[in-house]
Amino acid sequence: MLSLLVLLPFVQSALSACTGTISSLDDIAAAVKCTTVNINSFTVPAGQGFEIDLLDGTTVNLNGDIKFGNKTWAGPLFTVSGKSITFNGNGHTLDGGGPFYWDGLGGNGGVTKPAPMIKIRISGTYRDVKVLNSPARTYSVSNPAALVMTGLTIDNSLGDLPNSNSAGKAAGHNTDGFDASTTDLTIQNSVIHNQDDCLAINRGSNIVFQGNTCIGGHGISVGSIDSGVTVNGIVITGNTIIDNDQALRIKTKSAATGSTVTNITYSGNTATGIKRFGVIIDQSYPDTLGTPGTGVKLSGVNFVSPKTTISVVSGAQKVAVNCGSGSCTGSWNWANLAVSGGKAGSIVNFSGITGFSQ
Ligand SMILES: *[C@@H]1O[C@H](CO)[C@@H](O)[C@H](O)[C@H]1NC(C)=O
Ligand SMILES: *[C@@H]1O[C@H](CO)[C@@H](O)[C@H](O)[C@H]1NC(C)=O
Ligand SMILES: *[C@@H]1O[C@H](CO)[C@@H](O)[C@H](O)[C@H]1NC(C)=O
Repeated sequence: MLSLLVLLPFVQSALSACTGTISSLDDIAAAVKCTTVNINSFTVPAGQGFEIDLLDGTTVNLNGDIKFGNKTWAGPLFTVSGKSITFNGNGHTLDGGGPFYWDGLGGNGGVTKPAPMIKIRISGTYRDVKVLNSPARTYSVSNPAALVMTGLTIDNSLGDLPNSNSAGKAAGHNTDGFDASTTDLTIQNSVIHNQDDCLAINRGSNIVFQGNTCIGGHGISVGSIDSGVTVNGIVITGNTIIDNDQALRIKTKSAATGSTVTNITYSGNTATGIKRFGVIIDQSYPDTLGTPGTGVKLSGVNFVSPKTTISVVSGAQKVAVNCGSGSCTGSWNWANLAVSGGKAGSIVNFSGITGFSQ
């Protein structure tokens, strides 16, 4: 009896050292009993989610493109869960069918859209996956332990154009790249072309966003911050931000209470063609530069070497800071921030910024 118990883990790992293959949703249950899972090209039936809950240590190989059938439902379209996973996208595409849903309204009405399109609930590595045309928000990330997401593409460029349902507006809306409320996450070397935040961090710690290119959206955001959350240890480094509304933003809700945001470090980012604000730190969300709240304590926002360089278009503001009375604290070193073009913005209710003038 004892010897059987001792052997059990080895028997289990021998049984799972198989290769499972997924060519339709019907194959999933058997395939996820193996620690190698190969996914072939197929179309997921409309209104059904592709969900894989993997054994610890599984390697997934995406060996073809996946399309998702079109239907007005809340999604998500794809969910992957597991610990110590290696997910190899091999450059293949997950096609969300965005144009079927896009009406210029995103999550604010109109057609119900699968959002997020993809839920990532793994630790390990997730690499080389292309997402084409997400209906609304793209990735929601809640990793159970350290995760690196690398070499990804999110291409919603088609959503920049109006369509027959969008009343002349960009058809894609609320197409966030990554929504991360999590700990120990690195997102790197990825290209995101969308119509909302490239990255939005609502809570969490030890999140690194590096070497990414953000095109056309609303920039790299901490927030929007709601009540009772903590953000600590965010590193935004070496990113290229092109033609976004703002390059770098921290937005906290005016109504939020009991939250702390601290230790946000920017370095080596390059932004061009910024349309509204180079840097905006605003405690009046959902208003922009409205009456600020005081329920989110904000500190330790620094620009360290190498320099972050931002170029804004004419009419845009270089830097705007809108703090509630007493809620931004400490000394923030902005000596490694340079912003050109546009005009100076205002800095309200805070005098702790050093090394920077506009
Ligand atoms: C969903 O609709 C979009 C746009 O109409 C189309 O490009 C895509 O191929 C459709 N997907 C499927 C699986 O039919
Ligand atoms: C600031 O964030 C970094 C990166 O996550 C972390 O290593 C460091 O410990 C944090 N500092 C404090 C004082 O929490
Ligand atoms: C500073 O904060 C107080 C309290 O929230 C607010 O009444 C005031 O308008 C703020 N200052 C400015 C210049 O907006």
